[in-house]
Amino acid sequence: MTTTIEVMCNHRSIRKFTGEPIHPEQREAIMAAAQSASSSSFLQASTVVRITDMELRRHLMALCGDQAYVAEAAEFWIFCADFHRHLHWVPEAKTGFAEQLLIGAIDTALMGQNAITAAESLGLGGVFIGAVRNQPHELSAMLNLPQGVIPLFGLCLGHPAQDPQPKPRLPAPVVFMENRYQTEPDETRMAEYDQRVRHYYQTRTGGNKDMTWTGQIAATLAKEARPFMLDFLREQGFCLR
Ligand SMILES: Cc1cc2nc3c(=O)[nH]c(=O)nc-3n(C[C@H](O)[C@H](O)[C@H](O)COP(=O)(O)O)c2cc1C
Repeated sequence: MTTTIEVMCNHRSIRKFTGEPIHPEQREAIMAAAQSASSSSFLQASTVVRITDMELRRHLMALCGDQAYVAEAAEFWIFCADFHRHLHWVPEAKTGFAEQLLIGAIDTALMGQNAITAAESLGLGGVFIGAVRNQPHELSAMLNLPQGVIPLFGLCLGHPAQDPQPKPRLPAPVVFMENRYQTEPDETRMAEYDQRVRHYYQTRTGGNKDMTWTGQIAATLAKEARPFMLDFLREQGFCLR
C-alpha cells in the first residue's frame, strides 16, 4: 500500500478541533492540491470562498444548523459551482443546461475531496458541510454570490482534537459490479454490514446509538430533501433546460 492510499483508507470526519491555526504554507499546499483535480472540458467551474471573518463565520454557523465546528475549525471553506466567470469572458455562452450543473458539481466535489485528502496527509482533519444548502438564498446573499454560482458544500479543516474510528463502508462487492448492474440485493452481505454499522455506532457512542445502515437510510430518506432546491438552482441560472 502507498502512503496516499493509507491516508485515503484512514479517512474519518473530524468534528472537534484544537484551536491551533493551519500554517499558511500548509493551507496553500491544500489549495494547490484542490486545484490540481481534474476538470470536465477544463471548464474549472468552481470557486472556493474561504471565510476568515469570524462574525460571518458565526452567522454561517447559524445557517448551517448550528454545527459548532463551522465556527470552531481553523478553516471554513465554501465550495461553489461557478459559471459566472465563464459568462463574463464569453457573454454569448450557452449555459443553464442541467448537464452543466453536473459538470460544476462534479468538478467542485473532486476539488473538495483533493482538499480533505491533502489536509489528512498533513495530519489535519476535516468534515464536509452539506448544511450550507439549508438556506441557500440567505447564504448566497451573505457571500455576495452572483448569478451562475451556487454553494455546494462547506469544508471545516483543522488540527484534530478527537480520533474516531473510520466508519465501515458498504461491502466492496455490493458497490463494485462487473460488466452489468446486479439488481438482486446481496441479503447476506447486507445483513452482516448492518450489524457492523450497529456495532460501530454502539462502540462510538458508548451504547447510546443503536442504528443499522438500512435503519439510517430509512430515516434520512423518509424526509424531504431540501425541496426548495430546484427553484434556487433555476434562480441562479442552473437547470433551465
Ligand atoms: C457533501 C457532504 C456533506 C456533508 N455534510 C455534513 C454536515 O453538514 N455535517 C456533518 O457533521 N457531516 C457532514 N458530512 C459528513 C458525513 O456525515 C460523513 O462523511 C459520513 O457520515 C461518513 O463518515 P466519515 O466521513 O467519518 O467516513 C457530509 C459529507 C459530505 C460528503
